[in-house]
Amino acid sequence: MQPRARCVRSLALSAMDDPLLRWRAEFPIVERTNYQISNSLGAMPRRARERLMEFADLWETRGVRAWGDRWWNLQFEFAASIERILGVAANTVSMHQNVAMASQAILSCFAFESPRNRIVYSELNFPSVMYLYEQQVRRGAEIVRVPSGDGITIDTQRLCDAIDERTRLVPISHVLFRSGYIQDARAIVEKARRVGAFVVLDVFQSVGALPLALADWGVHAAVGGALKYLCGGPGNCFLYVDPAERAALKPGFTGWAAHKDPFAFSTAGQDWRDDGGRFLNGTPNVPALFAGIEGTKIVAEIGLPAIRAKSLRMTAKMLERCDRHGFALRSPRAAEQRGNHVSIDVPFGYEICQVLNARDIVCDFRPGAGIRLSPHFYTRDDEAVAAVDAIAAIAASGEYRAFVGQPRKPG
Ligand SMILES: Cc1ncc(COP(=O)(O)O)c(C=O)c1O
Repeated sequence: MQPRARCVRSLALSAMDDPLLRWRAEFPIVERTNYQISNSLGAMPRRARERLMEFADLWETRGVRAWGDRWWNLQFEFAASIERILGVAANTVSMHQNVAMASQAILSCFAFESPRNRIVYSELNFPSVMYLYEQQVRRGAEIVRVPSGDGITIDTQRLCDAIDERTRLVPISHVLFRSGYIQDARAIVEKARRVGAFVVLDVFQSVGALPLALADWGVHAAVGGALKYLCGGPGNCFLYVDPAERAALKPGFTGWAAHKDPFAFSTAGQDWRDDGGRFLNGTPNVPALFAGIEGTKIVAEIGLPAIRAKSLRMTAKMLERCDRHGFALRSPRAAEQRGNHVSIDVPFGYEICQVLNARDIVCDFRPGAGIRLSPHFYTRDDEAVAAVDAIAAIAASGEYRAFVGQPRKPG
């Protein structure tokens, strides 16, 4: 046997060695492709189709009565499954269309009056979130953007030093979307609490991939979504708010769903709910909720410790392979800093990514990150390694040249 063949076979763990592989059959796309993009869009569970059919059947047969049958309460059922994954109390999560809207719901509770008018975050936040917070300048906010020395990590001390008595909000990513670097949420929240600042932790790149303990870390509020590692499709994002903070918060971005008695349609003004539903606004995104609930249930059933242990094993193998190929990494190496994806910076990364996708090695490219590869619980170890090897093979073959100069596609 060739040494290389032996090596690849030893990486191909069977379902007996890797019990998480039994979930593969539940995710049709992972049986057909090498699916390395769960950091962007988790694979669709087979059961999502059944739930969408259930949505359509209810709409078709029950019409408006579907609200009472199932539609209205589905948002609370979904929120409850998110609460379990976040490690927070019941009735503390509300469902939203996307992170920008979930962020707006919490942001709208605050005024920005000097001297406590600063919003502090790092330059490696997700840009959409930055755009929203930057607009608060027109409401009196002052933005403090903490730079990253290397474009991969943020120095925790540097970020903590920027948070002081002038700080109102600290909206930061738990795991950075480019590099997958894990920020020390506990340390940042601890500093913020000491000086009276409020942290909004964006857990989009960690929820469903890492065990989270938001209540234990003392996080004031968190935003995130189900479409990546929770395999819950687009349109299912959430906001968690610490119940101890809740009563004092009165969201300006609001609507009838946040009212204590929404179906009374009172015109006497807003009377906010006392639970997490206080941060809702209008009609829930019902088809998205149907599509997404099964993925979240599967992740909860598997459990985050098992998912994390497998992720660390796979990303360690990928990093070892990157080193063998001499690739520049845009991700941290240390296990305690490593999220769930590996960012590989190779010349013509965008074009190589197009060839990978054409070959059904599904991944993405981000400026400043390179090619992002993200295995998940349904990935085989040999697939994770094969995706790294394919980058080297495509770079060597020159096949990527067909894509040079072509307009870039969304995704
Ligand atoms: C850290 C982080 N925040 C937010 C988003 C997306 O925000 P939105 O739901 O507003 O599109 C992403 C998407 O990739 C992300 O990685």
